[in-house]
Amino acid sequence: LAILLFCAALGYFSGSIPFGLLLTRAFGLGDLRSIGSGNIGATNALRTGNKALAILTLAGDVLKGTVPVVIAARWGEPAAAIAGLSAFIGHLFPVWLGFKGGKGVATYIGVLLGFAPWGVAVFAAAWLSMAFLFRYSSLAALVATLIVPVALFAMGNTVAALLTGILTVLVYLKHHANIQRLLSGTEGKIGGGK
Ligand code: G3P
Repeated sequence: LAILLFCAALGYFSGSIPFGLLLTRAFGLGDLRSIGSGNIGATNALRTGNKALAILTLAGDVLKGTVPVVIAARWGEPAAAIAGLSAFIGHLFPVWLGFKGGKGVATYIGVLLGFAPWGVAVFAAAWLSMAFLFRYSSLAALVATLIVPVALFAMGNTVAALLTGILTVLVYLKHHANIQRLLSGTEGKIGGGK
């Protein structure tokens, strides 16, 4: 039990590092929360117009999901799953930002990379084709995160399917405003500066 609690804490504190916010500040571009959608993720970092910032934010938010999962994996699959779930929750609800965190897409990829690496290929294929077709980051993420648990389940990886299924529900809850904007046709497009 002590190990599982350690994995949960490790995951949470890793996940709660707000890379988008810290990097945007380090780039001298102000508070990311007062730019674009106000989200602290890579999609919104791109709205500053600085591609390097967006890429670094994406990398940081991915790796903070992967690292705790990989560390925890030495204590078995349940420990890795708890570390991944905790990292994801850390990103969504960071104590440092009054529990107002990001929407979880990059950290979802990171947890997936640590837990079921080939699932990232499924995610990437879905995300890239949807983003290419419609240019909405949120829509691409909503479709990709729906397909991943189904694909994992179909491949017989029930634990990974269950874990990502939980993450997907949280991604959808965090995207309620995006979903409303998509339905009303007012969602900002990738690179659209909105
Ligand atoms: O990855 C987050 C994306 O799905 C939505 O971000 O800034 O457009 O709300 P944003």
